[in-house]
Amino acid sequence: ETVEWDPEQAGKGEYDHFMLKEISEQPTSIAQAIEGRIDPRSGTIDLERFERGTFEDIDEVQFVACGTSYHAALYGSTALNQVGISSTALLANEYSVAAPPIDDSTLVVAVTQSGETADTLNALRSAAAAGAKTMTVTNVIGSTASRVADETLLIRAGPEIGVAATKTFSSQALMLVLLARRVAADQTGEVRTDRRSLLEAADSMPESIETLLEQSQAASVASRYRDSQAYFFIGRGLGYSVALEGALKFKEITYEHAEGFASGELKHGPLALVTPETPLFAVFTGTEDEKTLKNAAEAQTRGAPVIAVCPPGHEAIEIADDHLAIPETDATLAGLLANVQLQLVSYYAATLLDRPIDKPRNLAKSVTVE
Ligand code: AGP
Repeated sequence: ETVEWDPEQAGKGEYDHFMLKEISEQPTSIAQAIEGRIDPRSGTIDLERFERGTFEDIDEVQFVACGTSYHAALYGSTALNQVGISSTALLANEYSVAAPPIDDSTLVVAVTQSGETADTLNALRSAAAAGAKTMTVTNVIGSTASRVADETLLIRAGPEIGVAATKTFSSQALMLVLLARRVAADQTGEVRTDRRSLLEAADSMPESIETLLEQSQAASVASRYRDSQAYFFIGRGLGYSVALEGALKFKEITYEHAEGFASGELKHGPLALVTPETPLFAVFTGTEDEKTLKNAAEAQTRGAPVIAVCPPGHEAIEIADDHLAIPETDATLAGLLANVQLQLVSYYAATLLDRPIDKPRNLAKSVTVE
């Protein structure tokens, strides 16, 4: 007797798709990312034994990346700016035409899950040639990016098969937040108390994601808005990168029109697109939430249903049509949790539309052409 054995199906285990498997793996992949790297009691962050040892000599951090990795990079550059280190996130494919000035106090960080994205490698090589210090934040040991960069920071997310990046975004964003705090600490020589609370939150992140996954309302939200015309995502500060990522994931696997905006930009043009047929996901990460709430309310006045992505008890729930709950955490990490809810919404929306979730049309897992 022979048993039919499909290695791909076997790899998915109990899940219908790699994407859902990888979303569900995030408590473990995040635990792996932080293992041995943080100590909430002393407030220390030991990222890796970097040859450089310290980031004392770094005045500016530039990130280069594409797609989802670019959104993680934007998360990281926002976190750096918030702790007083000058930083920008650049699309790697724009870098060759608009590279900002570099000197030997500039650290250029290529964020790339695969470590093989042509655009990102080109930007990394040209930054190195211009004299920058370089680093890559990647998931693949021995990838081209890790061979080209001076230093490698591994995100340790484990293999990601689904074309849509999910668990790797979370690990990238978390590692970049830790990098931001580490650079700031090396510059000032201080361990700030707010860093201890951030590290405690990072330490409990696996548990927080577990709770979120168990209680997520994403499937019913996806089903309620399944017949919409377009899907909008807004957020502010760290929530802005999450809004962009929420929209990218949504368009990538559902093939529906989705756009992400900075909350404050809605009134500068996109509001013209808002109708009762365009649900608006508003991400609240504790940064000027009252302004984002006003922006969401403006869309709601034009008929758009508002789905608030926020902790329980948040004032946004009072006006929102629906709520995707995120466990309470440090403001710097709330965006990671909000993003997991949006990953689930995309997944369930794509399931309802019967899309080939793990292999969306026209896309490849790793883009090795310019
Ligand atoms: C994300 O869901 C996409 N598959 C895509 O945007 C991806 O993040 C991008 O191509 C960058 O890939 P990398 O992280 O391997 O460099």
